[in-house]
Amino acid sequence: MSPSTLTALADETTLPTSFIRDEEERPKVAYNKFSDEISVISLKGIDESGTRGEICEKIVKACEDWGIFQVVDHGVDAELISQMTKFAKEFFAFPSEEKVRFDMSGGKKGGFIVSSHLQGEVVQDWREIVTYFSYPIRARDYSRWPNKPQGWIAITEKYSEKLMELACKLLEILSEAMGLEKEALTKACVDMDQKVVVNFYPKCPQPDLTLGLKRHTDPGTITLLLQDQVGGLQATKDNGKTWITVQPVEGAFVVNLGDHGQYLSNGRFKNADHQVVVNSNSSRLSIATFQNPAPEAIVYPLKIREGEKAVMDEPITFAEMYRRKMSKDLELARLKKLAK
Ligand code: SIN
Ligand code: FE2
Repeated sequence: MSPSTLTALADETTLPTSFIRDEEERPKVAYNKFSDEISVISLKGIDESGTRGEICEKIVKACEDWGIFQVVDHGVDAELISQMTKFAKEFFAFPSEEKVRFDMSGGKKGGFIVSSHLQGEVVQDWREIVTYFSYPIRARDYSRWPNKPQGWIAITEKYSEKLMELACKLLEILSEAMGLEKEALTKACVDMDQKVVVNFYPKCPQPDLTLGLKRHTDPGTITLLLQDQVGGLQATKDNGKTWITVQPVEGAFVVNLGDHGQYLSNGRFKNADHQVVVNSNSSRLSIATFQNPAPEAIVYPLKIREGEKAVMDEPITFAEMYRRKMSKDLELARLKKLAK
């Protein structure tokens, strides 16, 4: 597929077959049928002892029930968020020749990609992305960071720093909730990695047949997602029997726990099971900031409560955990293909 086609296809009437998903994978709930089941939690007063306890309780409940919640009053400047969003929208509106200057296909660390599919999948996701490997800072490859629109690099640097701070604050709360010292989760990540993925989901000619991003759990510790007001992020907590569309909240971050977060809590906190649906009325922008452990970090529950069994047989590195996840996905995809 040529790099320009995804955005150009927005105005066509039919969807190319490479995007068509099997019946059981297709959207079940509309992109704009919002649910308020996901808690919206204010972080105001998080550093004051009385309020901290109350906030902590709400976060823990959300993590135990869903592994997903939203935060407001989070301390990330609204102006920074609006600049980051503005630059992102301008970038995706560029002609394809501009965007593909940052093409990341072929194993490059970061940049633009026209349509992604999670590893192991044959069917494509209806999205364009820009990926920044933003932490550790020494590993940044600025040649992959779009230098157009002018000024975007500096804003992305600031954004990634502020989101790292917010993520660490949330990990402190979760560590305390587990009865551990507040640095426990960040220390378990060794030298925390961060990846900022800017997602653009163009209008889609046949949104009922496809997904913007297929169902998955994030592999890392915690993800902070900024989304516009269009809607499309969906979550399930009963293994796909019911889906809800997360209500967009202006200026909020959707926080979700990944596999690493779930393992470290010995399964007490859920790894949010989620997907993205698209629509034919408007495009959608979201910015996902993934906080991951270093590849060599050891994955094993930090606390096993009385009467509980460890959810893992043995400690493994995060690199190995990720490898196993991907090969399981590949195997499932292979079996599915065979069954057809
Ligand atoms: C993601 O799961 O990485 C993206 C979610 C979204 O775009 O809402
Ligand atoms: Fe995700």
